[in-house]
Amino acid sequence: MKKYDINNLTQKALGARQFSQAKYSHFEVGAALLAENGTIVTGCNVESSSYGLTVCAERVALTKALSEGITKFTAIAIAAKDGEFCPPCGACRQLLYDYAPDLDIILTNGKENKKYKLNDLLPLAFEDTQLG
Ligand code: THU
Repeated sequence: MKKYDINNLTQKALGARQFSQAKYSHFEVGAALLAENGTIVTGCNVESSSYGLTVCAERVALTKALSEGITKFTAIAIAAKDGEFCPPCGACRQLLYDYAPDLDIILTNGKENKKYKLNDLLPLAFEDTQLG
């Protein structure tokens, strides 16, 4: 695992949060996904008047990256409410796991960071090996 600057990544997540489209929940989230090649791809949550269409910040960052041909990832930082840590939802854990099971998950509350491994946050994950 390459070394990387956690504070730089959390700052990028905090910066991405400003673009959050959260007019229904008012819960603004930013994410910054670090690729193995050093590229950082950001995302924010994008909500819909048809609530179920809402996309989380983490999935926006991941799909942006994949759609640009960036496919190998080291870490993702997530920022939501100042002073609180925001763990990724179950759907995001699954999609991130499908592409980067060894990913580091960095949560920031704006002041402090917490670091987890995605495979610890999604034990007994469903994965493509099961598809046969
Ligand atoms: N949300 C995220 O963007 N990421 C998370 O990890 C948790 C939830 C968004 C989805 C929705 O726009 C709002 O936060 C409230 O659920």
